[in-house]
Amino acid sequence: MDEIRKHFPILNIQNRGKKLVYLDNAATSLTPNSVLDSINEHYTTYRASVHRSVFELGEIVTNKYEESRNNIAQYIGAKPNSIIFTKNATESLNLVADAWGFENLKKNDIILLTNMEHHSNIIPWQVIAKKTGAILRYIFFDKNGELNLNEIENELKKGVKVLSVTHASNVLGTINPIKEICALAHQYNTLVCVDGCQSTPHLKIDVSDLDCDFFAFSGHKMLGPTGIGALYAKEEILNQMSPYQTGGGMINDVGLYESEWTEIPHKFEPGSPMTAQVIGLSSAVNFLKEIDWESNHGIAEYVINKLREINGIEIYGQPKERTPIVSFNIQNIHSLDLAHLLDYEGITIRSGHMCCKPLMDTLKISGCARASFYFYNTFEEADIFVEKLKKSINILL
Ligand SMILES: Cc1ncc(COP(=O)(O)O)c(C=O)c1O
Repeated sequence: MDEIRKHFPILNIQNRGKKLVYLDNAATSLTPNSVLDSINEHYTTYRASVHRSVFELGEIVTNKYEESRNNIAQYIGAKPNSIIFTKNATESLNLVADAWGFENLKKNDIILLTNMEHHSNIIPWQVIAKKTGAILRYIFFDKNGELNLNEIENELKKGVKVLSVTHASNVLGTINPIKEICALAHQYNTLVCVDGCQSTPHLKIDVSDLDCDFFAFSGHKMLGPTGIGALYAKEEILNQMSPYQTGGGMINDVGLYESEWTEIPHKFEPGSPMTAQVIGLSSAVNFLKEIDWESNHGIAEYVINKLREINGIEIYGQPKERTPIVSFNIQNIHSLDLAHLLDYEGITIRSGHMCCKPLMDTLKISGCARASFYFYNTFEEADIFVEKLKKSINILL
């Protein structure tokens, strides 16, 4: 573990004067030296504009950018042409809902979502439903925080145009059976859009094997820099779609009144791209490929077992397959107070609605506390978290 942790310089810093115990990985992960170095190398040795400049630096940066696309595509089992760079998963999901939805949804078409979705996978669909007259329907998770395939099939039978579902819940930790869901949906000619934000950091993703139609993810949750995400979409779908945004770099020809788009993926990447971020994300992917890591190395189960001993605790989600996320509330204590007290112990956890208000409504809570782990978190840190949590509860009760 020390070998892995030494790659992350930030793990040595202090938070409010105490040794940092970083447990907000589901919000954003930490960054290894190799990613920082790759960004520094770009800015210090081959800074130039991508896809535009003929001089040597321009050639180098363009090659690096496209090599990064190849690398990131290969990491998730995709062809490079079907990877569109965006600023984050939120933008990827907006791209699908807006660009695909506007041309393919009409009045009374059904958009199927689940009540465990992040706001980023709800609001874009609400907006496009209003624009097109399409109808939103929801699948509700069960008492364990899992989706029921029979219920999904019952909805699909009614004729669903698109099902947009998270691969892993950022509150319950549930890993949804996306491969089975895609197979089922395709039987009923339904397209599947997957929010892969919480799965790409923890699982080996193969979009070809999953056979999803769209897959959105963010780089900053998987060791990459901020400001970079991607959308995978099947090539034939991307080829049929019109651009989401327009401008320089995405055209074959421009006249005064008409323009002609270039091929994918550039058709969906107008303007100067996020060069440093793409290079950094590729480096993050290399890190994930090269080191021997197991994301949920039993740490979530370890913490959950310890938390169960606490009086008045409610832990949300008991799925069979989970990511290392533990969300909970303590009776008569506000999650914000817990997060504040833990902060002064050096421990960073998240509190609030986690951008999942419909999920919170289902659980009849306004928010909760969440400790989220990654492969660099130790069992010693888990123990510190539980000990300081108990101390905070004693102060607050
Ligand atoms: C499940 C899920 N979907 C989407 C998002 C949005 O990610 P971003 O803010 O990087 O666009 C998040 C972020 O927490 C998430 O957890």
